[in-house]
Amino acid sequence: MISAQYSGDKKIFVGQAISTPPGPGEVQIKVAFVGLCGTDLHILHGAMDARVKIPLIFGHEMSGEIAMLGPQVQEWQVGDKVTVMPLDWDNTCPACLAGNKHICQNLNFVGIDSPGALQGLWNVNSSWLLALPADISLKDAALIEPVAVAVHDVRRAELKSGEKIIILGGGPIGILIATVAREFGAEILLAEIDQNRRRMVEEIGFKTIDPTDEGFLETINEWTNGAGADAVFEVSGAASAVLQATDIAKVRGRIVIVAIHPTPRNVNLHRIFMRELTIVGVRVYERIDFELAIEYVSLGKIPCSQLISKVVPISEISEAVATLEAGQAMKILINVGGAAK
Ligand SMILES: NC(=O)c1ccc[n+]([C@@H]2O[C@H](COP(=O)([O-])OP(=O)(O)OC[C@H]3O[C@@H](n4cnc5c(N)ncnc54)[C@H](O)[C@@H]3O)[C@@H](O)[C@H]2O)c1
Ligand SMILES: [Zn+2]
Repeated sequence: MISAQYSGDKKIFVGQAISTPPGPGEVQIKVAFVGLCGTDLHILHGAMDARVKIPLIFGHEMSGEIAMLGPQVQEWQVGDKVTVMPLDWDNTCPACLAGNKHICQNLNFVGIDSPGALQGLWNVNSSWLLALPADISLKDAALIEPVAVAVHDVRRAELKSGEKIIILGGGPIGILIATVAREFGAEILLAEIDQNRRRMVEEIGFKTIDPTDEGFLETINEWTNGAGADAVFEVSGAASAVLQATDIAKVRGRIVIVAIHPTPRNVNLHRIFMRELTIVGVRVYERIDFELAIEYVSLGKIPCSQLISKVVPISEISEAVATLEAGQAMKILINVGGAAK
């Protein structure tokens, strides 16, 4: 079977590997499509070398079909369309015992801390699987994982119908948060620094604003009748956006930190005090988020075809990574070739 490995030193090795049969409690998936995301780019840049075990078969946004059942697996059948929630918790740490298994203190994030989906035949624990509706497109299904991120973020924000929210950052995650928030009945303004991305976000159907505009604060004040936004989602990763977030949230508003900020940032604590703001951290997703994400994708609520810039064979993965690094694509899918439909 074919696989793509991060082999260290910012390199990807694509080659043939020998597949092994699934062990007890495992199923073997014929992988169809794998989406590349910012975390994969971090791995490939060597930024996570201290965490990942090289060589690493990466990839954690995927779709496929069950090819084989391991011993003691009863609830699945060969041919079932599936996706994987790539979280493996220990069930014993304080976070798990308190019910927060998705952010287990010893979490194995599959595709980062252990082998991921960029392989033709992938053995996974059957408890990580989620069934897909028979008529779902496997291409669209590769977006379920990032949609689940967005569902988790919107749920954690406790968004209510009619609320006005501002999303800082219009990459795939920012757009998916906007899409899910629209389903929750929110009114949305998306602030994005890049003109091309703003155009794309507008095409998908959301109002945008340039966060560097002189009249940025004034526009938001007008839009919210002087109150500020009910919730602000920080999805850009920029230090300036962290400061802007406290400027544009209403009294008792919520600021949701979605982006991964690798270093500590300046935060306007005076503003948090003055307005009694709440800061909410959000990380990955729970099973319920995946289930809702599957529903949204299968009902056509997610602009999948607009988000998927390209689908390329696994042999062209290095070029795909270069395209993403150059900011010339939103989401690129790798056709691993298992069950391409
Ligand atoms: N919380 C989680 O579990 C989770 C899961 C997935 C991704 N993430 C994080 O979410 C973030 C967004 O992911 P993505 O894939 O959309 O990334 P991305 O890099 O494609 O998108 C970020 C966007 O922010 C824009 N931007 C940069 N500076 C800005 C500013 N000052 N104001 C407004 N926009 C600005 C960029 O032009 C870009 O379009 C990343 O930090 C990623 O690591 C978090
Ligand atoms: Zn745990």
